[in-house]
Amino acid sequence: MDELKLNIDKSLLPKHVAVIMDGNGRWAKSKGMPRVFGHKNGVNAVREICEAAAEIGIEHLTLYAFSTENWNRPAMEVNALMSLLVETIKAEVKTLNDNNIKLNTIGDISHLPEKSKNALEKAINDTSNNTRMILHLALNYSARWEITQATKTIAEKVKNNILQPEDITQEVFASHLNTHNIPDPELLIRTSGEYRISNYLLWQIAYAELYFTPVFWPDFRKANLYEALIDFQGRERRFGKISEQVTPANT
Ligand code: FPP
Repeated sequence: MDELKLNIDKSLLPKHVAVIMDGNGRWAKSKGMPRVFGHKNGVNAVREICEAAAEIGIEHLTLYAFSTENWNRPAMEVNALMSLLVETIKAEVKTLNDNNIKLNTIGDISHLPEKSKNALEKAINDTSNNTRMILHLALNYSARWEITQATKTIAEKVKNNILQPEDITQEVFASHLNTHNIPDPELLIRTSGEYRISNYLLWQIAYAELYFTPVFWPDFRKANLYEALIDFQGRERRFGKISEQVTPANT
């Protein structure tokens, strides 16, 4: 693992890594256990990946913890996920502070159960002075919801003459998203062998490198993050240009 870490070029790190943590249910099923067992073990992966990302120098890490569509799961699983969130947040504030990690959320947390909302708000407040990395939890989040919300806010501003239609640039639109002061993710990781985006950061991932791994989330460890970063660093990011325009001639 240390060798993997040494292969990472610290000067070419993505500033922002976004993750779709998938496969908790299948991981549990493969062990003959209930789905919630998978979520509980998923917390270990969350802890490892936060620590590894902060240690190596990632500035923003966004984890898809609960989508707007996840409310459609059986009530028992939704309740278990909400309780797990509260327990984890409460238990991890100290580790977040020890690692100088600030907590943030994206998504509509106003509709989370009171207990979850309170625990989150307290943790956000208690970690607000940390500077090494920001951990963004996407909670009750979906990209279409976020884009619709931004559109409504902009439409209101136009109606009230605060903004003119010709003022609506990409930058102005992006400034109305939940992620307004976060750089776009340069690397998006999805675990569990699924090749989908699932309504995650649709605007922000326009130029992200996509990395899919068959590893189920509860098994995802530091070494898996290092592999994803090394893979990222081997990609040629052209942003619509041609190879010769982005690759120095002698390399
Ligand atoms: C996807 O696996 C996982 C989730 C919907 C929830 C992720 C939650 C955690 C890792 C635990 C708590 C997190 C935090 C940040 C405290 P799945 O259930 O869709 O798995 P499947 O595709 O195998 O069914």
